[in-house]
Amino acid sequence: MSRAFDGAMTPIALGVNVDHVGTVRQARRGRHPDPVHAALLAEQAGADSITMHLREDRRHIIDADPFALQERMQTHLNLEMAATPEMIDIALRLKPRDCCLVPEKREEVTTEGGLDVSARPASLREAIARLAGAGLRVSLFIDPDEQQVEAARDLGAPVVELHTGSYAQSVGDAGRARELSRLQHAARHAARCGLVVNAGHGLDYHTVQPVAAIPEIVELNIGHSIIARALFTGLADAVREMKTLMLAARESR
Ligand code: PXP
Repeated sequence: MSRAFDGAMTPIALGVNVDHVGTVRQARRGRHPDPVHAALLAEQAGADSITMHLREDRRHIIDADPFALQERMQTHLNLEMAATPEMIDIALRLKPRDCCLVPEKREEVTTEGGLDVSARPASLREAIARLAGAGLRVSLFIDPDEQQVEAARDLGAPVVELHTGSYAQSVGDAGRARELSRLQHAARHAARCGLVVNAGHGLDYHTVQPVAAIPEIVELNIGHSIIARALFTGLADAVREMKTLMLAARESR
């Protein structure tokens, strides 16, 4: 179970995002491959949680998936979604343990940036309160920036997920070091603010370890690289390998 950083060595958890199993299924609008089946296999291979992003256009995960998964899963579901009335209604019926609020644009290939929460919008505060009131643990997906962290805290979110996309896409040693430093600072600041700190987006087998070594980070949510590798190694090996890298990075601190 994720908890706020207490200064002690925390284990690091792997949340596996199975959206892209749904992407392949939706290419034919059929039943296979089934993201629920993938999620159950990922759990057996060591995933600590499963993420599904229900997008407005249903391009990968469809409404039935998270409901079917929750009936059968051993760990817990992190429902990723935009804070729209439609999605809030679904989340309140589904009641996953975690709900990660993300920005969403229909035309984007994937979630492009973090939520800009700096203006502390009343609508977001209300959405967080409604979800939290139903017992969901709300996370805000934000860029690794102190102002965003403080705004997330002020809005009443207990968890932040730091966007690792800029780090993962950075080119050259200097750029990578700069982006890693942003993540380290934001993670430390978020923990000092009493927030649980997760991170994810764009991480792969080559980039995961420096992020996994950040002591305040409790969970990494990783999808595309694991599902891509699973095509060649099978899903169980792809999950195990990612988790092994993460644990090795954390233990070598
Ligand atoms: N975290 C969030 C909030 C995301 O939007 C995504 C992508 O759906 C991920 C993590 C996982 O990103 P990736 O598939 O690139 O590993």
